[in-house]
Amino acid sequence: MKGIVLAGGHGKRMYPITRATSKQLLPVYDKPLIYYSMSVLLEAGIRDILVIAKPEHLDGFRALLGDGSQLGISIEYRPQPVRGGIAEAFLIGDDFIDGEPCALVLGDNIFYGSGFTEELAHAKENAEKGQATLFGYRVEHPENFGVVEFDDEGNAISLEEKPVEPRSNYCVTGLYFYDKRVCEFAKQLQPSTRGELEITDLNRMYLDEGSLKVERLGRDFAWFDTGTVDSLFNVSEFIRVVQKNTGVKVASLEEIAYDAGWIRRAQLLKLADSLKKTEYGRYLEKIALSTRR
Ligand code: G1P
Repeated sequence: MKGIVLAGGHGKRMYPITRATSKQLLPVYDKPLIYYSMSVLLEAGIRDILVIAKPEHLDGFRALLGDGSQLGISIEYRPQPVRGGIAEAFLIGDDFIDGEPCALVLGDNIFYGSGFTEELAHAKENAEKGQATLFGYRVEHPENFGVVEFDDEGNAISLEEKPVEPRSNYCVTGLYFYDKRVCEFAKQLQPSTRGELEITDLNRMYLDEGSLKVERLGRDFAWFDTGTVDSLFNVSEFIRVVQKNTGVKVASLEEIAYDAGWIRRAQLLKLADSLKKTEYGRYLEKIALSTRR
């Protein structure tokens, strides 16, 4: 299974901060924002990853993440020159996906909660079986998002993009699992009135043919979309508190790769050494020297 991180967008709601850099390279407490979305793909066991970003930002992502070999994974990069919509990722990534099932995560989304790894495994199985899976989350202001409506049995019955009058409080989060037909479906999409290939239109194709699953992330789960300076600041505080209380880092790519067995102790120590002046580096060193593996 392949994975795409879409880290495009102008980040105009964060100017002047994002005038010269990508939003997804900004810090969320102790690591760049893109670590959090990337960690979801790694947690799902996906090791073939494509990062899509504005052409002028690609070098920054490359400098940060390289070709992925340091984590025992593969990372490629492609530009999204114009604002073509989220579903355009499947046109840009068509040859990368190469007829396999594919997960897509938006580079500015953050997921945190127990039981998520099992949910991801389930979504992956659905994708292998010819289905798509979305994740719904209850929010106060659904009108700012894609919105999913459920029937009494919990089946998704409608999907709308930023509706003026939402039919439910469940938004569609920026994590999508699709079967191997996804690129073919994306090629059939027409641009919306705002000139973009809408992810909600793609999801509706799966809904209409009866192969869409929507998992509801519970109240104990935390999901953030970091579109504004305030939301980025709030989530930084959330991550800081969680990490201080538990002593465990959220979305440490190095730790996930080590726990998955994709890199060995010597490699984790090497990565830790390159960060040794930081608390992050000392954390990695502690993991490498512990006996948990
Ligand atoms: C996008 C999607 C929307 C989804 C949201 C999640 O909106 O279009 O359906 O709910 O991401 O982050 P955007 O944040 O790009 O406006």
